Amino acid sequence: MASADWTKPLAYIGLTTVAYTTFKLLRGASIYLHPSTLTKEYNPTGKNWALVTGATDGIGFGFCQELRARGFNVILHGRNETKLQKRAKELEAEFPATKTSIIVLDVVGVTNAIDEVGSQVRETLARNGGELSVLVNNVGGDSKPYTMLEAYTFEEAQETLDKNAVFMLQITRVLLPVLEAGRRGIVLNVSSISAYGMPFISVYSASKGFVDTLTRALEAECVAEGRNVDVMGLRVGPTRTSAFDVKAGLFVPNSRELAIGALNRVGCGEVIAWAYFWHSVQGVMFDVMPRSVLMKITAKKMRELKKEEEEKAKKR
Ligand SMILES: NC(=O)c1ccc[n+]([C@@H]2O[C@H](COP(=O)([O-])OP(=O)(O)OC[C@H]3O[C@@H](n4cnc5c(N)ncnc54)[C@H](OP(=O)(O)O)[C@@H]3O)[C@@H](O)[C@H]2O)c1
Repeated sequence: MASADWTKPLAYIGLTTVAYTTFKLLRGASIYLHPSTLTKEYNPTGKNWALVTGATDGIGFGFCQELRARGFNVILHGRNETKLQKRAKELEAEFPATKTSIIVLDVVGVTNAIDEVGSQVRETLARNGGELSVLVNNVGGDSKPYTMLEAYTFEEAQETLDKNAVFMLQITRVLLPVLEAGRRGIVLNVSSISAYGMPFISVYSASKGFVDTLTRALEAECVAEGRNVDVMGLRVGPTRTSAFDVKAGLFVPNSRELAIGALNRVGCGEVIAWAYFWHSVQGVMFDVMPRSVLMKITAKKMRELKKEEEEKAKKR
């Protein structure tokens, strides 16, 4: 029996893969050429406020710097009052034309005391003028990265969910009416490459999946109701921060570079977009690679990161 000729089908599969990858790359690249509508849409008077959660370090502080550079007054949220005041002073020194305020609240074990954040923000606006027009839901992280699910204690698992998912949901619920009271507002939710579902960070991964779904649902809800609040998710890949002490490079921006990318994506037309161009290139690779291969590579990387963490911990 003559053997089947696979040349044609394989050529079609190859061509389709190349065409799909090219299309994704071109479409992805167009998002990075679109000018940001952040200032025009959400701070036309130059008097408006942005609230950033987890603002004392890493990407959150990068957001604060970049929002102030674009003329926004900033409310910094965090858990440590001394650190918040220190960071607020740094911002005031770097950008004297804009104002700061702080909100102290631990995101872990959040209770209905969070409802008071609404009145705290309204008081800040009443005292200083301007509207709350931007909410950056940035706070997040993994309480026990690079381990198996059962290695988490009950508290560590809950903490990770609170940090990434529960607090975001609750503060957005509380602040949506404040955003809506202004001319136009936007909620920016920080997501992660880990939303693909990655081994050894399963709780964190799942919580970022929650962020993506909440973003899509809330965006659709606001559109359906014709509300004056936009909702957008910003997907983030490896970024050098206090929590992730890796060498910066083309594929690893620092916190400020990431924040610049994120704010530049506002108005790009996507509900969820990669904040930083080179992360989007990694995203395309993730989309086209067979999942089994991708997860093999990811598991290896996670084990390496765990080893690095353990070695660093030994030196401390
Ligand atoms: N870095 C990355 O490679 C990367 C990749 C993908 C996604 N992301 C996402 O980007 C966001 C920022 O990450 P990052 O790397 O910039 O984190 P980071 O450097 O650890 O900063 C986290 C911020 O959140 C605050 N925070 C932590 N726990 C808190 C708590 N219980 N209550 C109140 N505030 C708390 C920290 O405050 P303290 O100063 O008091 O600790 C800090 O201001 C997160 O949502 C993360 O999932 C990061």
